[in-house]
Amino acid sequence: PLGHHARFVPATADGLAPLLALHGTGGDENDLLPLAAMVAPGAAILSPRGAVLENGMPRFFRRLAEGVFDEADIVRRANDLADFVEESRSTLGLARPIALGFSNGANIAAAMLLLRPEVLAGAILIRAMVPLKEPPSRADGTPADRPVLILSGAMDPIVPSDNAARLARQLALAGAAVTHEILPAGHGLTQADIGLATSFLREHG
Ligand code: MLT
Repeated sequence: PLGHHARFVPATADGLAPLLALHGTGGDENDLLPLAAMVAPGAAILSPRGAVLENGMPRFFRRLAEGVFDEADIVRRANDLADFVEESRSTLGLARPIALGFSNGANIAAAMLLLRPEVLAGAILIRAMVPLKEPPSRADGTPADRPVLILSGAMDPIVPSDNAARLARQLALAGAAVTHEILPAGHGLTQADIGLATSFLREHG
């Protein structure tokens, strides 16, 4: 629906929140399926491909340069993706998903948490940064206390550590229950990310 290529893996266990898997720049809808299956064995996985192309590489929103975002495009794409999730949920009969986003996918998940928090049950944001410099203030009645795990790399060359800390504050102000872990890692995924994501989903998934 809505122009998103996507993969859907049905649940093989009961009572687990579905995962919304969101890949990084240059990935696609297949990329995070192994990670999702590892951190939440048996959970349903909905995995869309980013609708924007940058030199042939799929992404979830446009950027002007590395780390310099087209914020109007972020607003548009976060809303499109939120609509896709709602539509997929009603077609597939899915519960509200927990986002599992890496890099660019984590950034669009952060934007959804700020703009359309009702769509997600929570989120794991791996190597995320601030998507919107001035996020909208939370409207009355927006569901709060969404559990959010931010996994940052202390040596990440793309995400400065103060930027990740600012994202953690923005999401907390927007009502999320944020845990921010800073790992001895760069921008890439590590074994520690997998362990922390698995524990988070055992508690909240
Ligand atoms: C982004 O563009 O979302 C960030 O720079 C992360 C990336 O995709 O490299």
